[in-house]
Amino acid sequence: MSRIQLESVSKTFGSTHVIRDVCLDIADGEFMVLLGPSGCGKSTLLRMVAGLAQPTSGRILLNNNDVTCAPPRQRDLAMVFQSYALYPHLTVAKNIGFPLRTHGQSRRSIAESVSKTAATLGLTHLLGRRPAELSGGQRQRVALGRAMVREPGAFLMDEPLSNLDAKLRSATRTELIELHRRLGTTFLYVTHDQVEAMTMAMRIALLNEGRIEQVGTPAELYDTPRSVFVAGFLGAPPMNLFDAKVVRRGGELHVDSPGFTAPLGIMSDSHVDRTVTVGIRPERIRLVSASGASTAKVVTVENLGSEELVHLSVGPNSLCARVTRPTSVQAGAHTTFIVDPSDIHLFDNDGRRLTWKDEERAPVVSGRAVSIPAFTS
Ligand SMILES: Nc1ncnc2c1ncn2[C@@H]1O[C@H](COP(=O)(O)OP(=O)(O)O)[C@@H](O)[C@H]1O
Ligand SMILES: [Mg+2]
Repeated sequence: MSRIQLESVSKTFGSTHVIRDVCLDIADGEFMVLLGPSGCGKSTLLRMVAGLAQPTSGRILLNNNDVTCAPPRQRDLAMVFQSYALYPHLTVAKNIGFPLRTHGQSRRSIAESVSKTAATLGLTHLLGRRPAELSGGQRQRVALGRAMVREPGAFLMDEPLSNLDAKLRSATRTELIELHRRLGTTFLYVTHDQVEAMTMAMRIALLNEGRIEQVGTPAELYDTPRSVFVAGFLGAPPMNLFDAKVVRRGGELHVDSPGFTAPLGIMSDSHVDRTVTVGIRPERIRLVSASGASTAKVVTVENLGSEELVHLSVGPNSLCARVTRPTSVQAGAHTTFIVDPSDIHLFDNDGRRLTWKDEERAPVVSGRAVSIPAFTS
């Protein structure tokens, strides 16, 4: 059982700042995912928690004890890598039991632990095989078994599913969620894959260039992204983002850009005349066939089977709408679309989310949707 705390952790290599002032408090038993693009510092951060690298400044605490300078073996953590790192000449049983042998346990107690771990992971029938005789998924389960056998206080995993094909990756995701539920151990899991993060995490810490952009539940990051970076990183296809201006019209704030205007349901003067970035999720754009409303031009329609991605040209901007099939729209046609004011995200020039106080909002009319005039060029 382990609580992991990072206090203002920074890491530089020469003059390169790789981790910048990271603070993170991971609760005992939590499944925390460190998410971010390649090169943003995820592995570096995980290695510092493991004790394989030292922070340049800041502290790392395990169960309230400062372990910043403690060697890996004093941390009671187990690390699982993308590359499995199994011993090719040893059987599955010996690979799993390896950490116990180095701890000098008796043969019998090692055999018992190995057998219990193998049963948990469905590896019992493979105990006599060597890594070369296993599939990728089986090898990764052996690597997990080797991490589990010591019953560590926390698991640190660095992109453990990256070498698996899509189907196996999805199945192993489910297995890891189930394993976490059964063990109740802290998981700190690194990935660049937003689907892994969204499906497995209790909380996600999204990293960008060594800084934490936002920490929260998957729903919090998806529904109220604190920055343009978070908004654009989560979601496939990504959130539509384009520049606009906040204006006051008819007692209410609107956002305008060439060919586009939408009311915000805000009755205040704050942020008026500011240039902002508007964000609208593709699934929040609804195509409607109301006559007399304004239209956007349909550029292409991608059929995904259950849904369609409709690419729209709206003034100078390209927007994507994700709609259920069948739709009646076709490439080259014009269509009308609506977006609810609560589905419009706004960000300032620095990419930070704009918010309004509750008392600045117009009274909510339930189910109100606004038509967005979308003048095409
Ligand atoms: N030992 C090192 N020396 C110099 N630069 C490093 C070292 N380790 C990592 N880096 C740099 O730090 C950045 C973050 O790397 P890494 O933590 O591996 O990112 P991620 O795991 O998110 O892909 C990269 O730009 C990488 O080149
Ligand atoms: Mg990495």
